[in-house]
Amino acid sequence: MADASQINFLPAELSIIVPTFNESQNVPLLAEAVAKALPGVRWEMIYVDDNSPDGTSETVRQMALVDPRIRVIHRHNRRGLATACIEGILSSAAPYAAVIDADLQHDEKILGAMLERIRQDNVDLVVGSRYVEGGGVGDWDSKRVMVSKVATRMATRLTRTPISDPMSGFFMVRRDAFLRSLPNLSSIGFKILLDIAASAPQPLRVAEVPYTFRTRQHGESKLDSLVLWEYLQLILDKAFGRYIPARFMSFAMVGSFGVFVHFTILTIMFMGVGATFEVSQAAASIVAISNNFFLNNALTYRDQRLKGRALFFGWVTFNLVCATGAAANIGVADWLFGRNTYWVLSAIAGVLVSVVWNYAMSSLFTWRRRS
Ligand code: GDD
Ligand code: MN
Repeated sequence: MADASQINFLPAELSIIVPTFNESQNVPLLAEAVAKALPGVRWEMIYVDDNSPDGTSETVRQMALVDPRIRVIHRHNRRGLATACIEGILSSAAPYAAVIDADLQHDEKILGAMLERIRQDNVDLVVGSRYVEGGGVGDWDSKRVMVSKVATRMATRLTRTPISDPMSGFFMVRRDAFLRSLPNLSSIGFKILLDIAASAPQPLRVAEVPYTFRTRQHGESKLDSLVLWEYLQLILDKAFGRYIPARFMSFAMVGSFGVFVHFTILTIMFMGVGATFEVSQAAASIVAISNNFFLNNALTYRDQRLKGRALFFGWVTFNLVCATGAAANIGVADWLFGRNTYWVLSAIAGVLVSVVWNYAMSSLFTWRRRS
């Protein structure tokens, strides 16, 4: 650990933001590596930890007691990489902020070069890139390389900014540029760099510094298959978020899948099993509503997922909400049809009313934010 006599107590020029979840073994190693990589630089490190079960927050507090350049934002009842980075940057005042993973997969040795680059007045953002000459992805399997390439292409269209590695979680940004993006941030999922670039009112001036992605030594990745869903949500929010909230888009996508589930069960019961239409329809509704409930809980409300008892009560309220939603659907469609509206339009209006109703009411009663 640092010796206090070596520490420069002047305000930091560079805030290094480190999002953490279960990284207690890695955080001291990273702090040491960063200190070594930035001799003579006035830096500070801000760890943003979501109350990791492995006690990462406490580990960082112990480090902070020895080295005043280190501190922790210990978030409670929260999850999310993007929001962690944003809140970390917002908690500091230095003219430049860097974001780096805690697990040593990002090569901290290029921080010096990134800082030198951003000090020149003509760039807003310096990206640690695996895809420019001199960089690399280390020992990724071919599937991950391919997924990353496709996602990168989509991202470039969105940001209108030539970044070879827009999915990178390793970058340095000028505070003023970040603050210009702030009002438009989606804050969804893992891709905070992409979010910042796509939210900028004017395309950012970007430089890239190559590095090779290292292999994780301690702990495990938090990136799972749901990250793809979050990425889709981020893309949709960036494209249509001005008109429709991202959560609603997710809710509606789950709902469309529910319609498919409904018709599958209905067909099997009515045509296959030979049950009456009423029984088939009732069974299909129950399965479809439960399907929507569990998918929304896992995807749409991933950040406030219900568990245990709350999961059961959530399921009950969701059924009530959907039952009233269905009544509204039929009521509106019947009313319009009775007034000589074309039958297809009547039905579509009914569906729209019930989707909005279900979304609004379930956000109030099923996934109510407990403060
Ligand atoms: N506070 C907080 N909250 N931190 C989190 C959370 C969270 O919910 N989830 C993950 N982190 C932290 C991890 O502890 C780690 O320091 C960092 O975010 C990255 O998480 P990893 O789980 O190590 O992600 P990865 O290595 O699979 O993905 C990295 O590489 C991708 C490039 O393909 C990340 O840098 C991605 O952002 C990047 O896109
Ligand atoms: Mn990692």
